[in-house]
Amino acid sequence: MTDTDIRRFSARAELEQAAAGLILELAQEAVAARGRFVLALPGGRTPLGVYARLLDPGVREGLPWDRTHVFMGDERMVPLDDPQSNFGQARAALFSRAVIPTGNLHPMPVQVAPLTLAARTHAEELTAFFDGPPVFDLCFLGLGPDGHTASLFPDRLSLDAIGVVAAEPEPGLDPQVPRLTLTFPAINASRAVLICAAGTEKLAVAERVLADPEGAAEDVPAALVRPRGRLFWFLSC
Ligand code: 6PG
Repeated sequence: MTDTDIRRFSARAELEQAAAGLILELAQEAVAARGRFVLALPGGRTPLGVYARLLDPGVREGLPWDRTHVFMGDERMVPLDDPQSNFGQARAALFSRAVIPTGNLHPMPVQVAPLTLAARTHAEELTAFFDGPPVFDLCFLGLGPDGHTASLFPDRLSLDAIGVVAAEPEPGLDPQVPRLTLTFPAINASRAVLICAAGTEKLAVAERVLADPEGAAEDVPAALVRPRGRLFWFLSC
């Protein structure tokens, strides 16, 4: 049974600060326990404010950047320097301003084609890194107004994928570019998952999931996030 910790904030800024504090706490726990912190980051706009808080005095110094490994929860199949790239966005907002060794940054293989080969390639990269199926210390996810998370969209075959990385050729929303995404088996193997949902539209979806996870699972992909570890929902208007 997933241990769910729901925190509601009156402002997005409070959510962002709390998310950075949680990442700091989980990073220190992971390094103390296993000597490293392995994190998967989301795309979209929501994480940007959290990245900024991770660079605040008092947080930045506490993060074990040199022991932190960063993967992406999903990625748009564009060059990493494209403004639509999730990794490129995180690099500009966070990696370029923190001291994470380049070898600790693990972007998805956006240069590999076709998409199915890129998915297989990244699955192999993950399996090699973890010496088996991936177990992230923290999988940080966003939420779309349609209930998608990562690039796991409603009514898509990837929702039932049994591997660790799935190809999503038709996301059905902007940017209309093919995606790679961690699958639910990969996400749910995490020691902790943080879903941040800010904004009225997303709040309605999140509350539906929290009120009736089984019922919502029929059409809200985020309801299928049920990690073996801890699940944090951070919500704000
Ligand atoms: C992506 C994201 C996606 C995102 C949600 C929320 O590649 O777009 O990974 O899952 O987290 O769409 O996006 P916002 O944070 O911009 O609302």
